[in-house]
Amino acid sequence: MNSKLLLQARNYENIYGDKIPASERPLFHVTPQTGWLNDPNGFSFYKGEYHLFYQYHLYNTSWGPMYWGHVKTKDFIRWERLPAALAPDAEYDNAGCFSGSAVELPDGRHLLMYTGVQEWKREDGFTESRQVQCIAYGDGTDYEKYEGNPVLTERDLPEGGSAEDFRDPKIWRDDEEDCFYAVVGNRTEDSSGAILLFRSKDTMNWEFVTVLDRSENQYGKMWECPDFFTLDHAAVLLTSPQEMLARGMEFHNGNGTLYITGYYDKKNHCFMRSEVRAIDYGLDFYAPQTVLTPDGRRIMIGWMQSWESSHSQPHGARWFGMMTIPRELHIVDGMLRQNPVQELDNYHINPVFYRNVDIRERIQLPKVSGRVLDMSLYIRPAGGQLYEHVTIKVAKDTQYYTAISYDPNKSVLTFDRSNSGFRHDILATRKVLVRYQKGEIRLRIVMDRFSIEIFVNDGEQAITSTIYTPQEAQSISFEAEGMAILDVEKYDLQLSDTL
Ligand code: FRU
Repeated sequence: MNSKLLLQARNYENIYGDKIPASERPLFHVTPQTGWLNDPNGFSFYKGEYHLFYQYHLYNTSWGPMYWGHVKTKDFIRWERLPAALAPDAEYDNAGCFSGSAVELPDGRHLLMYTGVQEWKREDGFTESRQVQCIAYGDGTDYEKYEGNPVLTERDLPEGGSAEDFRDPKIWRDDEEDCFYAVVGNRTEDSSGAILLFRSKDTMNWEFVTVLDRSENQYGKMWECPDFFTLDHAAVLLTSPQEMLARGMEFHNGNGTLYITGYYDKKNHCFMRSEVRAIDYGLDFYAPQTVLTPDGRRIMIGWMQSWESSHSQPHGARWFGMMTIPRELHIVDGMLRQNPVQELDNYHINPVFYRNVDIRERIQLPKVSGRVLDMSLYIRPAGGQLYEHVTIKVAKDTQYYTAISYDPNKSVLTFDRSNSGFRHDILATRKVLVRYQKGEIRLRIVMDRFSIEIFVNDGEQAITSTIYTPQEAQSISFEAEGMAILDVEKYDLQLSDTL
């Protein structure tokens, strides 16, 4: 490893990474060692452990020239830090090592595939840029960029493809065909996004196979961060479109996330859509990526942040940007289900159970409080009468609260962080249409100091948001208009060593 930039970064991490006390970080969600984090990258199983890299600007808490930060885990909950893996130190990635993925090679090396962003000044003073795909080989700690980089350039694009928006390769190995495939986001001549499929025998020489799917200006503009896999007999394409337009309660304006289920005719490389839906309905979720575990589970992790509100940072923040909890995915009745990885249960302590609690006016339940917890609620009408709404307030004290409210008549769940301590006028509420079940709803709420992830009706929908409410706000209350019945199963979460 002879990169000056990378050595400087690793030194900086050694000095400043340790200076952030564990109490200023979430307990089990990944944060950058120092500075800024965005997309998950290189989520892969390598030599018995899961590796996760991330888009990283370590020198301050804003986005800047991208490095790759690095962590690994055996169980998706307890993470171990590793030194930065990539720096923008080559001619073809001088403006950043953008998002990408990783895979274990048959010869035991760990391969990273990422987007190099190259910028240069023209004679007239304008800056031009292009995005190319590059690879690096390593041993799980140190990585060397391939001397033949880049391995995919504008020459490999189908007609009309943009060389400036060509990024975020997701690679996987196809054992049956003894080759590798990668999906890459691209912008087409209609200025919206497409997902390109490439194939390679050796990871160094790639050929264009097909355009797997395209936005045609229906689902936003540029499609970023694709992933493509088979799950429960369906083909699933994930992507994060920029500049979407709102559609009912399904899609909101701006950067969104999509899952597209369908049928994949592998012989002819033809993908036929059935459902197109949002992956997450919260305020902070973007650019997810998945890994397949040795026991066959498909696990997804996302960036728990929205680009639009990423300027709204707590005063004096020394890190910014977190990952979601890793989530196990399934397709049930053609739709995506997601739930926290089962390993989270190993960290449950202090169980608290309540059954058949009446909620009318506001109540608090002994031992139901905290900011690091896993709480399941089952809410239903009392007798024949449907209640008007149930509201749960978490991270609450006399000044602050975050509200989750269910209106059974409209079957709409509202998340509201207007009173969660943000000092910028950022988007604070989201409404989600959930399955109508005669006033019954199940919510699993996972909180980790600065975040709240809500899994609705056994993971049919997820609502993910950050909250920077002061940690002293620990209370939880329940209230209803009309009468509802509530069951609670609540655990605190405990880890000894944390990131
Ligand atoms: C998505 C994204 C990617 C890009 C990376 C740059 O959030 O815009 O498309 O590779 O972030 O940091």
